[in-house]
Amino acid sequence: MAVGIFDSGLGGLTVLNAAQKRLPDVDFLYFADSAHAPYGVRDAEDIFQLTRNAVQDLWARGCDLVILACNTASAAALRRMQEDGVPEGKRVLGVFVPLIEALTERQWGDNSPPREVEVQHVALFATPATVSSRAFQRELAFRAIGVDVEAQACGGVVDAIEDGDLILAEALVRSHVDALKRKMPDPQAAILGCTHYPLMAETFQQALGPDVNVYSQGDLVAESLADYLQRHPNMTGGGEGGFLTTGKPAFVSDRATQFLRRQITFAAA
Ligand code: DGL
Repeated sequence: MAVGIFDSGLGGLTVLNAAQKRLPDVDFLYFADSAHAPYGVRDAEDIFQLTRNAVQDLWARGCDLVILACNTASAAALRRMQEDGVPEGKRVLGVFVPLIEALTERQWGDNSPPREVEVQHVALFATPATVSSRAFQRELAFRAIGVDVEAQACGGVVDAIEDGDLILAEALVRSHVDALKRKMPDPQAAILGCTHYPLMAETFQQALGPDVNVYSQGDLVAESLADYLQRHPNMTGGGEGGFLTTGKPAFVSDRATQFLRRQITFAAA
């Protein structure tokens, strides 16, 4: 039994990497649905079906807890999966809430009513599906009042990263930041609302300028997962971790090794 980490492709590795550093004794089973990536240009029903299939696969392989290390899947599928009912002893959690708790200076799991917070102008960079779901704004409204969010759908960035074309990814990031700045010239904070984007974090920070506080999910999700596992120690255990993909294992392994700068070997899911 291991903790399952799911993403459409390579982006969730940014969460996995942080989680492995924070929780070195926990095994993780990573699932990349590379054959169907990117999710961000699919409709909500499609994303829901693909995400549910992958999560059920991870549950069937013995993971009791699955983290959706994918904002697009969290936006389109998490609430519906939880409302449809999760099997006894199984859990699925997303990546929005830890990020919003950090942005709104809350303790992990603090569900008190929304209140005014320090930050007032927030830029959100995410996939087209995440932006159109407005899930980030909805979760934020449960916790904070008076925050102005300007969202920028970053078409093409995930495809470029999955293809290993980082020059294209960088050019696209710069043009999406320019587009955002035309709508909100002086954001105080920027949310990288797609787990692929931390792989381009430096480019986002350079394009936004040094005064903008850029929030990535890796460390925040890892910290919140550590807190969750402390409160629910039976949701982890010994057992088999590893890397699974619905795509071509050799290709996905090469890309993953390049991104994490350590050998990563995927097997066929
Ligand atoms: N890494 C995903 C996210 O956090 C992915 C994107 C995609 O497949 O478009 O939204």
